[in-house]
Amino acid sequence: MCGIFAYTGSKGKNAATVLMDGLLSLEYRGYDSAGIFLPESGNVKTPGAVTELRKKVPKEFKGKSGIAHLRWATHGEPTEANAHPHSDCTGQIMLVHNGIIENFKELKARLEKTGHIFVSDSDTEILVHLVEEHMKSENDFEKAALAALNEVRGTYGIAMQYKHEPERIIAARMGSPIVLGLGDKEHFIASDPSPILPHTRTVVFLEDGEVAVITPDKHRIFKLDSTGVHRSPENIEWNAEEAQKGGYEHFMLKEIMEGPEVIENTLRGRLVVDKGNAKLGGLESAGAQLENVDRIVVVACGTASYAGLVGEYMLEEHAKIPVEVEIGSEFRYKKPVINEKTAVLAISQSGETLDTLEAVREGKRRGALTLGIVNAVGSTIARETDAGVYNHAGPEISVASTKAFLSQMTVLALLTMFLGRLRGMTQEEGQEIARALKELPAKVQRILDNRQKIEALAKKYIKNRDFLFIGRKYNYPVAYEGAIKLKELSYIHAEGCGAGEMKHGPIAMIDENFPTIAIVTKDSMYEKMISNIHEIKARKGPVIALASEGDSDIAKLVDDCLYVPETIEMLSPILNVVPLQLFAYYFAKEKGLNVDRPRNLAKSVTVE
Ligand code: AGP
Repeated sequence: MCGIFAYTGSKGKNAATVLMDGLLSLEYRGYDSAGIFLPESGNVKTPGAVTELRKKVPKEFKGKSGIAHLRWATHGEPTEANAHPHSDCTGQIMLVHNGIIENFKELKARLEKTGHIFVSDSDTEILVHLVEEHMKSENDFEKAALAALNEVRGTYGIAMQYKHEPERIIAARMGSPIVLGLGDKEHFIASDPSPILPHTRTVVFLEDGEVAVITPDKHRIFKLDSTGVHRSPENIEWNAEEAQKGGYEHFMLKEIMEGPEVIENTLRGRLVVDKGNAKLGGLESAGAQLENVDRIVVVACGTASYAGLVGEYMLEEHAKIPVEVEIGSEFRYKKPVINEKTAVLAISQSGETLDTLEAVREGKRRGALTLGIVNAVGSTIARETDAGVYNHAGPEISVASTKAFLSQMTVLALLTMFLGRLRGMTQEEGQEIARALKELPAKVQRILDNRQKIEALAKKYIKNRDFLFIGRKYNYPVAYEGAIKLKELSYIHAEGCGAGEMKHGPIAMIDENFPTIAIVTKDSMYEKMISNIHEIKARKGPVIALASEGDSDIAKLVDDCLYVPETIEMLSPILNVVPLQLFAYYFAKEKGLNVDRPRNLAKSVTVE
């Protein structure tokens, strides 16, 4: 996710001031690099966010229009060269982009053949050179932009400017949000309304496949085939902070609601459905070593470690490779028996968790191949591992990790296919997993559409101070994740437990005041889970079942039921965790706690 902001006006405002101030409200969308272009003053880019950019923008930097950008890196490290705006060969066309260009490699190869010189390894840069190429034949900025956009596959929210027509800015949307601000003698383009609101509350949201042109006095919207679009403006009542949250009350809910899009972005360009395989470019550099690996040790902390546990079940069952999961804070101090045939796989949203980082370093010291599944591009863990896979989940602002967890499990499913196909998984098996992965976003959406039921359940149990979460096999880690979500957000006692472990202690806690959330979806452990539920009911323990849609029997056995769509067993954690994330969210919200900033916790634990 990146932040885009563009301005054109004839009111005497300095576009540099408008844009720099506006970027501040977009920093939640990306902060590893920033840039601004004014046709009358030039292009300034820097690693870091607005503070760093302000240091570099000269005092005399001014103009009536411009485009600006905050980057959350997906392709290419967060360097000045990879920062936006990107320029064509002539420096006449400048462009900022939010999204992922899927076919950038083939377009780049074609453009290089016609003499285009690239200065970055960002996928975005091909777009501006493509417009330049079409300018040679179209000799018209708008037509060239349209021709270029019709060749691109992937997602984009863009703003672009042509130096010789400084008043005009072109925007386009495909999968990444773009909103137009309609002011008096001034118009705006942004990723969300927050930077526009100080100037006007009249906006128009673009839809996928639409292009817009703004000048100080007007705006036009049309489709990629040039057919005109008329959309009535709307008046935004939100304040800037609400606009950053997309109208949701908390970043956590916004990020849970992004789940379907995050799975799509994680899979984008990596799933080869017809071949039943996964393409993981970030692992290519470790290809030979990976084939030599006979064991994987996952190192991670907290929620990331539970994703690792799900991955353990996936990789052992479907890639036939031994896996063990070690929490970073333990692995780094024990005397692990690892060697050059071991892969140490770090999972970390922030890429900065010190315990996980030190575990990676311990693995390196002992000769292991170190891999990463990381969300923050260019983070320390991403840089210190030998190879890895980026999540492409966008910045996760809320302390409680939600969308990153879905993405981590999705990457682990891709890794399972990638390694599995090297280790005997048949094409048919791979195709079954691939097809099931493709269906996940819509199934997650179905759960999200029924979130009111989950909110009602959280309110029903709001007085309880103890919860047990139980699951088996793939859903054993999900029980732990459900528990950590509830305890870190609501500060109450919640613990995860392998359902088979109940009889070895935890069941002693059960009584009518100690509810259990049982993950009992239709899978290979269903009957065992039913037995565990009977044990709990025999002790008057309330049970909330997380069950498969259509399972009416379970409802007769338990006190409350939440239903989720079915999927193949190895992917069920990706669906089953969503109601638990929502339950924890609504529980904490009902208690009036600070959902996005729970007490005593930090988003990235970079200390011992
Ligand atoms: C998740 O809800 C927690 N905030 C925490 O357990 C987190 O997952 C853990 O600190 C690891 O963070 P990382 O993924 O950035 O390494």
